Amino acid sequence: MEQILDLIGTYVAEAFETAGYDRALGKVTVSNRPDLCEYQCNGAMAGAKRYHKAPLQIAQEVAGILDGCDALQSAEAVKPGFLNLKLSAAYLADYLNAMKSDDRLGVSAAKEKKKIIIDYGGANVAKPLHVGHLRSAVIGESVKRILRYLGHETIGDVHLGDWGLQMGLIIAQLRSEKPDLPYFDEAFEGEYPKEAPFTISELEQIYPQASKRSKEDEAFRQEALRSTEQLQHGNRGYRAIWQHILDVSIADLKKNYDSLNVSFELWKKESDAQPYIPGLVEYLKKEGYAHIDQGALVVDVAEESDTKKIPPCMILKSDGASLYNTTDLATIVMRMEKWKPDHIIYVVDKRQDLYFTQVFRCARKTKLVDEDTQLTFLGFGTMNGRDGKPFKTRDGGVMRLENLIAEIDAEMLRKILENHEADPEEAKETAKIVALSAIKYGDLSNQASKDYIFDTDKFTSFEGNTGPYLLYTMVRVKSILRKYMEESQKTPEDLDGFVILPAERESEKALGLTLTAFAPAVALAGEELAPHKLCGYLYELANQFNSFYHETKILSEPLQAQKESYLATLVLTLRVLECGIALLGFSAPEKM
Ligand code: ARG
Repeated sequence: MEQILDLIGTYVAEAFETAGYDRALGKVTVSNRPDLCEYQCNGAMAGAKRYHKAPLQIAQEVAGILDGCDALQSAEAVKPGFLNLKLSAAYLADYLNAMKSDDRLGVSAAKEKKKIIIDYGGANVAKPLHVGHLRSAVIGESVKRILRYLGHETIGDVHLGDWGLQMGLIIAQLRSEKPDLPYFDEAFEGEYPKEAPFTISELEQIYPQASKRSKEDEAFRQEALRSTEQLQHGNRGYRAIWQHILDVSIADLKKNYDSLNVSFELWKKESDAQPYIPGLVEYLKKEGYAHIDQGALVVDVAEESDTKKIPPCMILKSDGASLYNTTDLATIVMRMEKWKPDHIIYVVDKRQDLYFTQVFRCARKTKLVDEDTQLTFLGFGTMNGRDGKPFKTRDGGVMRLENLIAEIDAEMLRKILENHEADPEEAKETAKIVALSAIKYGDLSNQASKDYIFDTDKFTSFEGNTGPYLLYTMVRVKSILRKYMEESQKTPEDLDGFVILPAERESEKALGLTLTAFAPAVALAGEELAPHKLCGYLYELANQFNSFYHETKILSEPLQAQKESYLATLVLTLRVLECGIALLGFSAPEKM
């Protein structure tokens, strides 16, 4: 479907042409003075110099021609030379009816379909998911859904951290606790047990213990480093432990990501990139990209225009060990070989900005990616508590994601039961759905790169710019539709057949105009990888709907065609909100 701005733009461009001016001047935008008009065109201002005419005169000529245009209710030339436009209510109704019969709600698929890998999640196995990983999961999932809706082929990769020191720490700790396990017996040649020697909760205790110990006990730290190295060089027993850690951890991570309604097409890990490292190193050396600097193998990535120093990208440490960089570069090699993406987007903490600058420059300079493969770092800010410091538990510890979710679930349940009496089981389910919207919308409605304050009271409120407010609005629409269907014995299919009539009142027209802005809002959010722009749109739509609702008697409307028109508008509003929140990664309950 064509976008409304383009449709009006065509009429205005034609009018400019008819009046003897360049049609390119007829560009139309949404009005920044909604009190005066709905759309505007500033082309006369731009054309004044070129045509040696007063802008107002040009605007008046064009307005005169637009006078007979069916699409417009009015076209007015105002000082110093703006064109103020209002859409005709009949034209708007036609557009809304077309949108209603379009499965994609007017959002057209991108002309150039791209293959896009989104690297998000980034959890580290054996460590519990904490709130730091929340943002990556929530933002990455939404960006993926938006890009997919826009017609791109999207591949989400969780890119688990499973190759660093945390593995060696766990192995070393396990060894000191249970030295008799066969994994530590070098003479052992049999098959290792299938069962892991720890449960997830044990595993989650081993890591912090080991991490703490390594800071106090140097000998232990050395042992952990050695274990990491041995694991990476293929020590059989250590590999078996590592596999256990992966199995136990991944099962738990999947459960956690599931509860966030976040899923990945690929469950690749840092270790999956390791086989690509020898070839990568060889290539970088052979092509003369890498050189030895103080024993380490590096690629220079500084550029003349740099205003701050960008250090070289280190490929191998002086002891030959690979690093986080090496893994990311090898992952790029793997991704290019297996999927040949047009674009890779990394949704990672913005403190890794410099690091990704190095990695991207290195990948480009050494031609690991095609020239037209885009690499984007979508860095996000920190989630802070109400004290403005990184979010913690009440007693100051690291907040586990599971616990945060449980806390918000409980708060939501309390609010729902306070609101009305409900079956406790049903209320619990509803609370979960609403809590997820509170958490996700609270995050997504902020520009990703900014830090934000996680404010439970604010995020769980049914009023204001929150997830629960959107859901509350949707539940309100659902209940009106349900009531109508009960009273009139109509089905959802009957409702689909209802026709939207030209709006008679301001609030009704404003709602209609906002509905037509769904497609550009999704397109913009996709283009800028900015879910917060979609949030802004949905909030505006919910507000417009509520104003309309407060002014309009829907079910008691005496004229059947008018009532059907209102109901059709409700159906369309609900569908747009439903589609919008699905793109953000949550859903609405039936009641709340
Ligand atoms: N595991 C990393 C961390 O917790 C995040 C991984 C981000 N993705 C990447 N390709 N480096 O910091």
